[in-house]
Amino acid sequence: MGPSVIAGMAGAPLRYPQSALAPAGPVARSEFQLIQLSLVIMLGVFVAVTAAFAYTAVRYRSRPGNLAPASAVDENRRLEIGWTLVPLILLVVMAVPTVKDSYALTPPDTPRVVDVRVIGHQFWWELQYTRLGVTTANELVIPYGRKIDLSLTSADVIHSFWVPRLAGKTDLNPGQLNTAWIQADRPGVYEGQCAEYCGLGHANMHIRVVAVTDREFARWVDGMRHPRVTPASALAKRGMALFGQVGCSSCHTVAGTRFHGQLGPELTGMGNRATIAAGTLTNTPAHLRRWLANPPAILPGSTMPDLHLTGSQISALTAYVESLR
Ligand code: CUA
Repeated sequence: MGPSVIAGMAGAPLRYPQSALAPAGPVARSEFQLIQLSLVIMLGVFVAVTAAFAYTAVRYRSRPGNLAPASAVDENRRLEIGWTLVPLILLVVMAVPTVKDSYALTPPDTPRVVDVRVIGHQFWWELQYTRLGVTTANELVIPYGRKIDLSLTSADVIHSFWVPRLAGKTDLNPGQLNTAWIQADRPGVYEGQCAEYCGLGHANMHIRVVAVTDREFARWVDGMRHPRVTPASALAKRGMALFGQVGCSSCHTVAGTRFHGQLGPELTGMGNRATIAAGTLTNTPAHLRRWLANPPAILPGSTMPDLHLTGSQISALTAYVESLR
């Protein structure tokens, strides 16, 4: 998949790209229906209780000349049965679809065709397509119209995977594997966000789900499995050499090369991604230069240090990273 495919998929910008009220897949849709059902029931209860309260306050208000205390009522069996039964019925009406959906939204024991291990890091997302043998970061490419199984965990603290238009939140807990699945109705980019406070970079821990056609997905997987290893331009070649010399490779992996760092996001196919710095900036050479010049200035709390690179080193590294396709 070329860069244009992902970058060009932005389409018309949505006013609320992270709204659970605009579901774009079956998981988010069934959750949205539960939201609507509870809302209707709660509004009904609110109106009924407020009306009863208002009626009683007006009907039995104290009037001039009517100073005697109202006669006490010991019991009213009909009322008591009524206000026990009605909430019980309402709770059952909410519980049945909730429990039903909880089962429907649990992934099967045997993962389906695309299953992704999502690992939270301060402050980025590691995305391992276990059976396809592909690893990427921050941009989850999926074929649309298909169920994608996720198993989620964390490398450090608790994070929460939340792409509101596709599914509700699932926590990423260290030492534990949670499961979920997502599906997108249509091709497009679905914006998400870490939803559990995880440190200084929490607010900038974006996740993007990029839903493409089966064919585009297959091409993307193929490209990730067979990345171009040797850059074409002399500048990018110099960047590749620098990548090993200045320390990039101690944290980052580029498939097909001798760079196998494990601490930072995998950079295979980086030139095809639409964003850098965990979705904080669009992926342009100018932004990449700014990022390399001082990462913590762009992402407060970023574990990627300022390497005090010179301008020409930054140019070469930018050319190399943008050449990773
Ligand atoms: Cu990761 Cu908040």
